[in-house]
Amino acid sequence: MIRTLLAACLAVATVLADTPPAWAQDEAAVQDTDIDALLARMTLDEKIGQLVQRMGGRSKSLNSRLGPEELDKVRRGEVGSYLHVAGAEPLRELQRVAVEESRLGIPLLFSMDVVHGYRTIFPVPLAMAASWDPDAAERHARIAAREASAAGLHWTFAPMVDIARDPRWGRIVEGAGEDPYLGSRMAAAQVRGFQGDDLAEADTIIAGTKHFGAYGAAEGGRDYAGADVGERTLRETYLAPFRAAAEAGTASYMTAFNAVDGVPTTGNAALLRTTLREEWGWNGLLLSDWRAVEELMAHGVAGSREDAARLALEASVDMDMVADVYALDLKRAIETDPGLIPLLDQAVRRVLETKRKLGLFEDPYQYHDIAREAEVILSDLHRRAAREIAQESIVLLKNEGNVLPLAKDAKRIALVGALADDALSQLGSWRAQGRAEDVVTLRAALEAAHSDVVFASGTDTRADDVQGLPEAVAAAEGADLVVLALGEDFDWSGEARSRSSLELPGRQRELFEALAATGKPLVVVLMGGRPLAIPEVAERADAVLQTWLLGIEAGPAIVATLFGESNPGGKLPASFPRATGQVPVNYDHLPSGRPADPDPSKDTARYMDQPITPLYAFGHGLSYTSFDYGEIVVDKNEIPAAGGSLTLTIPVTNSGPVRGDEVVQLYMRDPVASVSRPVMQLRGFRRVGLRAGETNILTFTLESEQFALWAAEGGWKVEPGEIELMVGAASDDIRQRVTVRISGETAGTIAPAAIETLSTVSAGVEP
Ligand code: BGC
Repeated sequence: MIRTLLAACLAVATVLADTPPAWAQDEAAVQDTDIDALLARMTLDEKIGQLVQRMGGRSKSLNSRLGPEELDKVRRGEVGSYLHVAGAEPLRELQRVAVEESRLGIPLLFSMDVVHGYRTIFPVPLAMAASWDPDAAERHARIAAREASAAGLHWTFAPMVDIARDPRWGRIVEGAGEDPYLGSRMAAAQVRGFQGDDLAEADTIIAGTKHFGAYGAAEGGRDYAGADVGERTLRETYLAPFRAAAEAGTASYMTAFNAVDGVPTTGNAALLRTTLREEWGWNGLLLSDWRAVEELMAHGVAGSREDAARLALEASVDMDMVADVYALDLKRAIETDPGLIPLLDQAVRRVLETKRKLGLFEDPYQYHDIAREAEVILSDLHRRAAREIAQESIVLLKNEGNVLPLAKDAKRIALVGALADDALSQLGSWRAQGRAEDVVTLRAALEAAHSDVVFASGTDTRADDVQGLPEAVAAAEGADLVVLALGEDFDWSGEARSRSSLELPGRQRELFEALAATGKPLVVVLMGGRPLAIPEVAERADAVLQTWLLGIEAGPAIVATLFGESNPGGKLPASFPRATGQVPVNYDHLPSGRPADPDPSKDTARYMDQPITPLYAFGHGLSYTSFDYGEIVVDKNEIPAAGGSLTLTIPVTNSGPVRGDEVVQLYMRDPVASVSRPVMQLRGFRRVGLRAGETNILTFTLESEQFALWAAEGGWKVEPGEIELMVGAASDDIRQRVTVRISGETAGTIAPAAIETLSTVSAGVEP
């Protein structure tokens, strides 16, 4: 066991301050003494050094900046953390320099964007949210943590929990879509998966939940643009998944780049220090996004780097990602205003606490085990999990005449579309250490599964090029069925990848029309990282499978679904618009005084050129089987606002011919309240697998606090009156309703969407 610096400091402090011996104190008290003692020994420069995160490389050339000058900085105690680094062996050496060659020997924190897998790449987060299976999201994060920690990492910048209601925003791919309840479940599940039960274990890493604030509300879907959301929307919608992550114990957050109501988040003391820390009681490590401290100047709230440093510190940002504003300018700010010293100490303490939670003071090398690295990374077990989660993430949008599943003895299949053969794209926008060579493409998987496949790429997804169309049409004409991969490649969604149009890019629409004109049965496999506006595909294709970007097992997962070995059970985590101009088209909008009416003589909330409804609603997703919903039963018709709870049960039957998964969705509406309430809000769901003919009884337990609203005067409030509860297969496919009453009034404590609705499944009587 390494003799730790903290133990040494504790010994010194015990002598000097005559504190009781360690065995006489409880563990927390001992630990506080440790950190106090260490802080007391640190110079101002060493303290600031702990708040500095530097890049050890670039995301695509990890460790490339770790030259002699960088190591000297570590020796001088000028660095607290590195990002864009990896590898058990190189990071052991870097850690050794920090621990053995710096004056205080404080270990470094190593971090990276492990967003949907480290080497075993899973579906992009939007796809994983389409599984509506938080256990799958947790399982993915556990595996990602196991691999990343084996490669020497302590910290991932994930989960990304920004609510996104405008698919023009490219970063919609990184999160769980438009809904705060679904987003909260996915957030909490991933935090649990990354962090496990004990951060000090060698295979757990800290979650860096991001990007705190309302990054997803960027105006016009333009990345980095400001958000103009009211307090209620901020609290009920955008902050809810962050709150769920706090409840799940996230050890860190990253601040957003953008401004909310004119105040850039990284310098927003009201949002960070007051709401996040004081109100929520969260005391973890708060990291800025990439150069976001420096960007406070470009936002126009800081006149100098020194100002920017002060603002961020006052807002309680503990660590400055790569801008070196803390490194170079915080000292001057503190010398000018010594009142900042307690804030500095708080920040340093939080960094040190995080290192301690990870067990780094006990054993700084426990994350650097080369044998474990070789054993766990891309193991068969991990690959299998990637396939299962990929299958769960697929959404069947349309299936006319049950063209799917394909018969096992199907004859010639024409497989068309460049994306079917594009391995890199399946890795998505944050591929960490994922490699194209690990990916099994749709083409490879289909050719392996079926003896008669003719492939034609047709057209590139983005180029203005239709040269390949005749070949694609010929392939279709010579085949019995066409499988057409359409959509966006990996580089069309993600950071700084906003679009002004949600239509199929390039000349893909012409490719689609040409193939549809052949009259052959046409199955579209829609790939990409955002909802697209595809009315023509929805109209003319026989079947549409939304397959997103599914990771290394994309091809086998899609092929298993095409042939019915896997029955699609995913549901949309974000609405699909009919046209770009329709966004945002989220399902939980406010009611209008004049709801849409098809009668053109009435002035109502409508478009002249489009139906008001989305093309595919939030929660939509079909199956190769069908499900019947029985009667709702509630155990109480009335509950008190304070501490009330009710259970709702509903039988669900697989009424079709094959096994399948249904996502049973529970929505609520508060029809009369002190402020106008959304037409519906998700408040529970459960993915359940049923054999043909099988019935299960689902039970949901709701607490009265889950019906709270953010009141006009501020604060959470549960109000008296009726609540309508709705259960169904999609937000536009409600099968059963019931009304209950709340009596009395009380204050709530947290965003209702952040609270989990517990559910159970039990066997029902066969119908
Ligand atoms: C992104 C973050 C990411 C960071 C480090 C930033 O540009 O906004 O999501 O974690 O880079 O790669």
